Amino acid sequence: MNLVPKPKIYITRQLPERGLSIIRKYFDAEVWPEYSPPPKNVIIGKARDIDALTPLLSDKIDAEVFNAAPKLKIVSQLAVGFDNIDLAEATKRGIYVTNTPEVLTDTTADFAWALLMAVARRVVEADRYVHSGQWKVAWHPAMMVGRDVYGATIGIVGAGRIGYAVAKRAKGFDMKILFYDVIPRPEIERDFGAKKVDMDTLLKESDFISIHVPLMKETHHLINQEKLGLMKKTAYLINNSRGPVVDEKALCESLKNGQIAGAGLDVFEQEPIPLDSPLLKLENVVVAPHISSASLETRSRMSEIVAENLVSFFQGKKPPNLVNPDVLKVKAPSKLI
Ligand code: GLV
Repeated sequence: MNLVPKPKIYITRQLPERGLSIIRKYFDAEVWPEYSPPPKNVIIGKARDIDALTPLLSDKIDAEVFNAAPKLKIVSQLAVGFDNIDLAEATKRGIYVTNTPEVLTDTTADFAWALLMAVARRVVEADRYVHSGQWKVAWHPAMMVGRDVYGATIGIVGAGRIGYAVAKRAKGFDMKILFYDVIPRPEIERDFGAKKVDMDTLLKESDFISIHVPLMKETHHLINQEKLGLMKKTAYLINNSRGPVVDEKALCESLKNGQIAGAGLDVFEQEPIPLDSPLLKLENVVVAPHISSASLETRSRMSEIVAENLVSFFQGKKPPNLVNPDVLKVKAPSKLI
């Protein structure tokens, strides 16, 4: 009989069973049962007694949470992005932070592509047109005319894993591929003939601009009024990275006054986007509720990676997807299972 108590974990939403069943095997797990997120004071209340925490990207995990969690050793998040977690505060306290990269790369790139195709070929507008009974004439040369994707120029902002996967899709559409990144990305040049350019050149020359950078101080409002002003009037902006990378108010103005042709957005400055947002009144915008990684396979695998990070940490090993490696200098992983 095992008399050593299992480490305690609080999970802020029902995860796919594939990961949850592994977690339950090794941990004393409590899961917030509702569809909406737990209020912060609930997370803080649970924090007192836990060794591990699994939040989602919409839960703010900051010094206030850490101060209430004297035994917390690891935050194993279900997401690739981790801008909701104060990494410096975690590292200072010797708390490990992990994410779920790679598995969602192609799923997210597919969705960027879905948004791109949808805005360029007016798929959602066309669907609304038919459903609402406006399709009265069988065929007209001017009906629902969009723009060609094949052969156009795409500008990829941030050519990491997801940007690379978007370039791969663009290559299949015979597109000219430009990219902007602060670090060299020889693989995207080598594999797809993509050309590295500065940000302004990318904005001026691209027909589609797709954003794939993490949200950081340096990328907050990276696409602002001035940058939108450089885009072609016929160009489209696609964002499925993080909402605050784009100045939404400026974007809305640009879309309204015809400065750019349209946008496909899976992320917003405030999520859920307020119903009275002027963005929702525009026909040339396709929106989705932050679902780029939402495929059955990927979400299942993400939950499994959450579990793998936790298990490896509590077996005394460096977790595979550690995002604050400096923590290794502060504290060693805990061997509790
Ligand atoms: C989704 O946005 C993620 O970061 O996984």
